[in-house]
Amino acid sequence: MNFIPYGKQFIQDDDIASVVDTLKSNYLTTGPKVKEFEEALAKFSEVKYCVAVSNGTAALHLASLVLLKKGDKVLTTPNSFLATSNSILYVDAKPIFVDITEDGNIDLDLCESELKKDSTIKAIYAVAFSGNMVNQDKLKYLKETYNITILEDNAHAIGAIYNGIKSGSCVNSDASIFSFHPVKHLTTGEGGAITTNSKDTYEKLLTLRGHGMVKTPDMKPWEYEMRDLGFNYRITDIQCALGLSQLNKLPDFVKRRFEIAKRYDNAFFNTIVKPLYTFDGKSSYHLYVVQVDFSKLNISKVDLFNRLREKNIGIQLHYIPINKQPYYKSLGYGDEITPIMDRYYEECFSLPMYPLLSDEEQEYVIDTLFKTLK
Ligand SMILES: Cc1ncc(COP(=O)(O)O)c(C=O)c1O
Repeated sequence: MNFIPYGKQFIQDDDIASVVDTLKSNYLTTGPKVKEFEEALAKFSEVKYCVAVSNGTAALHLASLVLLKKGDKVLTTPNSFLATSNSILYVDAKPIFVDITEDGNIDLDLCESELKKDSTIKAIYAVAFSGNMVNQDKLKYLKETYNITILEDNAHAIGAIYNGIKSGSCVNSDASIFSFHPVKHLTTGEGGAITTNSKDTYEKLLTLRGHGMVKTPDMKPWEYEMRDLGFNYRITDIQCALGLSQLNKLPDFVKRRFEIAKRYDNAFFNTIVKPLYTFDGKSSYHLYVVQVDFSKLNISKVDLFNRLREKNIGIQLHYIPINKQPYYKSLGYGDEITPIMDRYYEECFSLPMYPLLSDEEQEYVIDTLFKTLK
């Protein structure tokens, strides 16, 4: 059996042809494909505006620059990739880590307790962990009741729909971000995007993506003005050509992920391997996470990882609690009371999940996992 990673891109000849066409065109960057990709993403996500950028972290950074001010307190989850809360730190705001619920997402009830205790809290950064959007009714209630800013980190969740609300549609949030890293649902190599329904936010994002430069029709032909300290977070036309081609196939990619999720669910039903949640059509399954109570077994999690790697299966762990990272500890974090996250971290790991995973490979993963745990 060849090595089976936990996630992998799916590139076909039409994707390659799309990139080659752009390579032969006049624009490798700041050309028409960027706008085309942004418009296609906005249409797909049912949102007004979209700004494509060089990666998901850049998307979070720009969104944070627009949504937050220095010193703002932001409720966020320890169960994410570092970039979510790092983006709060980038703008000198203050992340506050809140425990998760059993499905791996931030506990919005605990967020409400925090909001009741401290009326100066400015925002919630909620991650649709593993592809599973946070409860949209609760998000709407919190936004309306406490008048807070909400960012949805949908890096895992393009293609997800929660009771008719599409990920990235920003129905209950001020902005949302996607990542197009190769392990995600669709890839541009590296890439990301911010979506929003606010014209003002959209215009600020566009300016900040390109060095804070503004050019208006009344200016001299060579003139531009730098009005903010922006960045070069541009994405190339080459990347967007790949993204456009991949976006066409996203519904099929998600469908295949559903099939894989259902097969895992069936295999693990009533066993020692507990899926984080079972299939209900809401998650778009960037990850398939399971939990195992290692305290009841004769194998440690380290041994499981090592033995599966020997068998060419690359399971992964999503995530180490961000607040326990040395850098965060140096800022005074790490002692938050997060019992669900603590247990989750002890028990969780992610199994291979990507459209190209064959039925045969999946059966091999399931079989080898059970044999190794016994
Ligand atoms: C939840 C989450 N947010 C943000 C990011 C950052 O995205 P990128 O790797 O494209 O910078 C990631 C990447 O893995 C992620 O998983």
